[in-house]
Parts: sequence; structure tokens; C-alpha cells
Amino acid sequence: MTHAKDNFIAWLKSAHAMEEQAITSLTAQTRRLENYPDLKARMLEHLDETRRQAEALQTLLNDFSGAPSTLKDIAGRIAATVHGIPALVMSDEVVKFTAQAYAFEHLEIATYRMLITAADELGETEAQAVFKRILAQETAMATWLEDNLDPITRVFLMRDERDLQAKR
Ligand SMILES: [Fe+2]
Repeated sequence: MTHAKDNFIAWLKSAHAMEEQAITSLTAQTRRLENYPDLKARMLEHLDETRRQAEALQTLLNDFSGAPSTLKDIAGRIAATVHGIPALVMSDEVVKFTAQAYAFEHLEIATYRMLITAADELGETEAQAVFKRILAQETAMATWLEDNLDPITRVFLMRDERDLQAKR
């Protein structure tokens, strides 16, 4: 199972880089939100969860390889692209941000499902429990975004129509 272990560690590093990227993006995006208090509160809550996820992954990485992850990992770059900092300068940034967050949560969900399967193959039950806990948080966030994409879009359109500040 040497190759399986190598893959497992590589995916773990990618997941850690992905969460580090998420911390950066969520920090920048939540700071800008002004007129969407529910979205801001939920994203701040998820930012807290994400910080704890990154810590848990770092602990696993130390256990398995002793090597810290870096932001140069491929998944981190994918994450940066999907999270899309450029959305911040758009006139409809709140809806772009929500759509990107929705996509990003699904990238995270896929990543943790892969890690859960790899941990299962390797018999790493403790690591698997960590991934399952994180997966539940990502799924909850994705569901919240799914439920709120329509209302956020309506509020945006309503504010924009009335020349209120709509974009964030
Ligand atoms: Fe997430």
C-alpha cells in the first residue's frame, strides 16, 4: 500500500492548502459584506470552522509525513481560481461570491470524499473520522448556500433596482 499512502499524503497536503486558501478568501470576502448580514454571519461561522479544519489537517500531516503543506500545492491554486478574488471588484460581487462559494464547497466535498475512501483503504480510522467531521461541515455550508442563493439574488436585484448599495 505504499502508493496508496503516497496518494493519501498528497491529497492531505492538497486539502490543507485548499483550507488555507479558503481562510484567505473568506477573510477578504466577509470583511467587505455590508448589506447581507445573514450571509456574513454564516460565512464568519464557516471561517471559524475552516480555521479548525486547517489545524486538524496540519496535525494529521505532522503525524503522517512531518512535512507542512504550502500554498503552492495544486489544489490551493485551483481553490484560488474557484474562489475568485476578482469577484470583489464586480458590481454584483455578492452574487458572484455566493456562486463561487457554492462551487468551492463542492470541490471541498469531493476532496474529503476521496480522503475518506483512501483512509478506509489504508485502515486509518482516526484520520477518516476527522475527514467525516469536516465533510459534514462542508456539506452543511453547501446546503446553506443552496438554500440562500435565491433569496440573496432577490435582495441584490431589489436593492440594485432602488439604487441602494447592492453589490456587497
Ligand atoms: Fe468549506
